[in-house]
Formats: sequence, structure tokens, C-alpha cells
Amino acid sequence: MKNAFYITTPIYYVNDAPHVGHAYTTVAADVLARYHRLIGDDVFFLTGTDEHGQKVEKTAGEKGLKPQEFVDSIVPQYKELWRLLNISNDGFIRTTEERHKKSVQHLFKVLQDKGDIYKGEYEDWYCIPCESFWTSLQLKEGGKCPDCGRPVEKLKEESYFFRMSKYEKQLLEHIETHPDFIRPESRRNEIVSFIKTGLRDLSISRTTFKWGIPVPGDDRHVIYVWLDALTNYITALGYPDTDTEKFKKFWPEENPVAAHVIGKDILRFHAVYWPCLLLAAELPLPKTIVSHGWWTIEGEKMSKSKGNVIDPAAVAKEYGVDEFRYFLLREVPFGLDGDFSKDALVNRINSDLANDLGNLHFRTINMIEKYLGGEIPEPNYDVDEKILPFNVYEPEILGLFKKYKDLMESFSFNDAIQTVWKMISDANRLIDLQAPWTLAKSEATKDKLRLNNVLGSSAQVIKASAIMLYPIMPEKMEIIWEQLGHSTHLADEKIPIEKTFWRYFAGQKIVRGPAPFPRIETERIKAKKAASAAAANQPSPPAPLPETGEGLKKVKESVNEPQTAAVDNRITIDDFMKADLRIGKILEAERVPKSDKLVKMKIDIGAETRQIVGGIGKAYSPEELVGRTVVVVANLKPAKLMGIESQGMVLAAGDVNTLKLAGFDAVDDAGKPAPGTRVK
Ligand code: MSP
Repeated sequence: MKNAFYITTPIYYVNDAPHVGHAYTTVAADVLARYHRLIGDDVFFLTGTDEHGQKVEKTAGEKGLKPQEFVDSIVPQYKELWRLLNISNDGFIRTTEERHKKSVQHLFKVLQDKGDIYKGEYEDWYCIPCESFWTSLQLKEGGKCPDCGRPVEKLKEESYFFRMSKYEKQLLEHIETHPDFIRPESRRNEIVSFIKTGLRDLSISRTTFKWGIPVPGDDRHVIYVWLDALTNYITALGYPDTDTEKFKKFWPEENPVAAHVIGKDILRFHAVYWPCLLLAAELPLPKTIVSHGWWTIEGEKMSKSKGNVIDPAAVAKEYGVDEFRYFLLREVPFGLDGDFSKDALVNRINSDLANDLGNLHFRTINMIEKYLGGEIPEPNYDVDEKILPFNVYEPEILGLFKKYKDLMESFSFNDAIQTVWKMISDANRLIDLQAPWTLAKSEATKDKLRLNNVLGSSAQVIKASAIMLYPIMPEKMEIIWEQLGHSTHLADEKIPIEKTFWRYFAGQKIVRGPAPFPRIETERIKAKKAASAAAANQPSPPAPLPETGEGLKKVKESVNEPQTAAVDNRITIDDFMKADLRIGKILEAERVPKSDKLVKMKIDIGAETRQIVGGIGKAYSPEELVGRTVVVVANLKPAKLMGIESQGMVLAAGDVNTLKLAGFDAVDDAGKPAPGTRVK
């Protein structure tokens, strides 16, 4: 039987156009909805708009519109944005809908009939923009609203009250016995401390404005906007009719399935008010309330007055919808605050998407076409199993899938993404190490099998990545899926994550298409590059390398490049200088047992002696190597080759059988640069 999963976003205030903060909450909820559909759950994904309240009434008046006319003019902006960002919501709720009015009034009556609502007088400090009363203790220095910092006014009004204090104990007990109820944990602790200071009864009606749902039987009062807004989560399931299949499935009596995704600013309403209202109405509580952090913009709080509000539609149109979605979830751990900047976005796109994923995909597809007639090969792990880097080997991928699943289900999107990146990086490393362009030239059976291994494993990694990244980048992953020769759509797939399903697609014909993630060259980046090239007094940058595959090993073949021909793939002197190339002297060399290619060397690079394993054993005997002066990439991350750690790489050019080491051996001893000298 399918598991049900109910996922909601907050309903958005309509007094403003949507910004990047709104987009963040909705994209995160969409990722969860898509993930749960992918693993076969029955999902209901809800978003909507919060349209009542004094602020809306005021803004509409300022624009010479009736409140309803005003909200009707804003709601399409939200719907349009969600369409653009590929939000797959199943429901959209507006609090001005008749079904919602009926639902809120019913809930009010239920609480009233139970004796949990009474009429009294409320007096406190009130912030009009936030529609919140504050006690004097809560006010910020200078008597300002603790949320928005604006002035507050003392307000006294007749009000209906909800006996929230009555539910304090029950709520605390629920939170303590349900560790998943409030996520992340730091926020749960905050809420627990707040409740323990004592819950006050909640004022739930207003007489100071009209734009709201009237209190049943007392038209002078409208229902407090948070009671109105929170109820949306059950209205959308058909409340007050709780006897329907839909209601029972998504708001069940036992084993709750609802997850409310919200920002940290509205946690108290969701984790205190909402559960108390539900407890009073004798309705089940949601499963999880997960709150995320806030975005600042280039280090500053987003605000209209600063003019730094980011329009998500403009960003998505300029940089790509999936790229924007990826950035939001990859850049900061969910729950923590993050900073949005276009430079950070472009960096992510270029480094993660173009260089890592795009590069892996593009060159694998290209090489499968070029060397294997376009047919995805079956890897054969019996040959060379040990030289496959850790995370491209099948059981490791299965392990990563399980890890990814746990992380997605605990809302750790950024860790889930990094898990996927482990295999992407290793698959790229596999290609660099095994050099399929060289293997393809060999007639030896072993090399042919190796070629299948490398390209088959890379294709599997791409397939597994497409599945895992689909919830985050649905459009681009569909493209990759199609280019891997699938005739299905990822959106229709139901994938049992635990199975090694990604494996069985050898024989499929790849379909070539454009590179999914071209690099982005912004004017700013171009200007920066030009400036640093000028500063280094460089002549114009070198032309792109020819597509020979015979260049220095350090330099990737043209099939390594994710760009289409039209895209500039030159690098600046700064980029080049990131590679720490040093003169090294080979002190010792010996063959790695059971390998005809690998040699283990001890190389003096000035400050230290490194152990480096290189694939140069077919062209050089260990005896020929000792005493040579070579060029070492000294800041390469260590890697294990056949279980032996290699702490760098030596540069060489040419085919594996006849390659030549780059070096200074032709230079006489006196003129030879000393070990450790930087090569530039
Ligand atoms: N209408 C209420 C929610 C009622 S839900 C029953 C509301 N609306 S809102 O439009 O102000 O905010 C909606 C969501 O946007 C919240 O989750 C909020 O945290 C999020 N964000 C608004 N600004 C944000 C940032 N700068 N950064 C990240 N998210 C922020 O509150």
C-alpha cells in the first residue's frame, strides 16, 4: 500500500509581490513533494495565499481598490511564479474562498461550544504591520516591535479569547514524546522553553478592522488572522467534513503524515497556536513542523526600503529555473540562515553544475557515442574492480542511495546533494584516471573491458544522480534521463530506492543533445577575469586546446568540457595558478603488484617527500624513473589507487604505452631547477 504524504507551504501574504524568501519555502516543499512521489508515496502538496487582515485592507485603500479587488490582482503573481519555478502543487487555497470561510467559522463554533472561547477585553502593545500584540517585556529597545522594529501602539479592544493556557501541558507532552514534531532540534528547544514560561490565552478576534471572516453570530468581530490562516491546512482537505477519504488519508487519526514547511519567523504560530487549536478541536496533530532559516541579500536584510528585494522570477529567467532551485537548497543547510548573491549563484552553477555534473554527463555521453557506437556498456567489475574509485562501485552507490533517502527524509537537502556529489566527483576521477580515450585505442581485451567499466560505471552514476537530483532539478534531470536513452519520464517513475534499479540499463542507446548545464559568463565575471589578466600583465589568454586527447594528462580532453562550441572555455592566469605545480625528483620507484601500469614512487618536492602512484609503468621501468626530474601537481587531493595512497600526480603526455614524462631532464645538472621550485 502507498504511504500518504501531505506537504504544505505557509500561505503567503498578498500585500507584497513574492520574493526570494517565499520562493525558498515553496521550492523546498516542492522538492519534498517530488521526492515522495518518486519513491511511490501518495502525495498532496498544498500552497496558497493569506488574504485577510488590516494590512491588506489598508494597502487596498491606498490603491483606491476594494480589498477583494486588490487581492485578486496579486494572487496571479504567486500562481505565475509557482508555474515558472515548476512547483508541482496539487492544491491552491485562498483564504477569501467560501470553503475556507465555512471551515474557519466551523472551527470557531466547535471551540466555542466546548467552552474554550470566551469574550473579554484585550489590551497590549500592537504592531499594525505585523498584526501582533506584544507584551511590554517582549518589545525591543525604544518600545519597538520585536519582529519588524517599527513603532507599536497601545490598543484595547473587546476580544474573543481562546483558552490556550488549558492546552499547555498536553502540548508539552506531545512535543516531548514526538521528537520529529518540531525540526530542527534547536528550534524545538526554543519552543519548549517558550511554552514553559507559561502560555497565555490567545486573543482571536478583532473589531478594529473589517477585512476578515466574521465571528459566527457577532458581526462586529472578525476572526484573528492567524486562526483564519492556520485553518487553511485542513480546509484544503475538506474540513469540516472529516469523513471523506481525502481527509482520512492526509489527516489520519493515527500515524500523522502532514509536514508543514515554514520559515523560522512563523514557528511559534505553527508549533504552539496551531497544535493547541487542534487539540481543542480534538483533531490529530500534524507529523512535523520544519522551519528553515532566512536569506539575507549580499549580507543585508532584505527590505523594500533598501531596494534589495530579489525577484525570484527574474533570477530564474536569467540563470535558469533548475539552477536557481539547486542553489537555494545547496547553498545553506536547511534550518540555517543564508546569504544570497548572484556571484555565489554563478559560482555554484559553474563549479557544481557545469564542471562536475555537466562535465561528467557530457563527456560520458560523447565517449559512449564515439567509442561504443552509442550503446551504454555493461560494466564488468571482475576486471579491475579495485581500481574503481570508491563511490562509483555498485554497492557503494546503493549505500549512498540509502544515505540520501535518510537525509531527504530528515530535511537535510544540502547533505543529500553532497552525497550525490560524492559519486559524481568519483566518476569524474575514474574517467581522468582511466583515460578512456587511450583505452579506446588499445586492441587488448582487458582494455576493452576497462573501457566498458569506465563508461558503464559513469553512465550508472549519471543515472543514479538524475534520479536523486530529480526532485531538485526536475527539468534538467528529465533531459539527462532522456539522453541516457530512456523512453519514460522521471516524473512518472516510481522508484524503490533500496533496489539496485539504476543498474539495469546496459544496451540502451544514448540520445545526444545539447549540454544540460552550460557555463555562465556574466559581464561581472568577464570584467573580473579581464582585470586579473591585465594585472598579471598577460598577453591575451591562450586559445582553447585542440581535441587531441594527447595533451598533458593534467589538461582534460575536449570531451571533458561541458560547453558547447560557442562557449568560451579559456581560463585566466588566476585559474591556472590554482594548480600548484612543483619540480620533483624521483627518489624511489617500484611497480604496484598485479598492475602493469601503476608505479609507486617517492618524490622529493623540496619541502617534503611525497608518495605518488602514477599510471606510467607501461612506458617506463622503475629503474628508468629513479633520478628523473618531473613536474608534480602538489595540491591535488590524495586518492587511493589499488588501495595505495597517492599524494599528487606527475605530468606526462601521450598514449599509455609510449607516454613521456614532462620534465627538465634535457637541462644540464647545474641548470636544473631544484626540487620544490614552482612551475609557472
Ligand atoms: N501569511 C503568513 C503565513 C501563514 S501560514 C498559515 C506569512 N506569510 S509571509 O508571506 O510573510 O511569509 C511566508 C514565508 O516566507 C514564511 O515561511 C517566511 O519565513 C518566508 N520568508 C519571508 N522572508 C524570508 C526571507 N528573507 N528568507 C527566507 N524566508 C523568508 O508569514
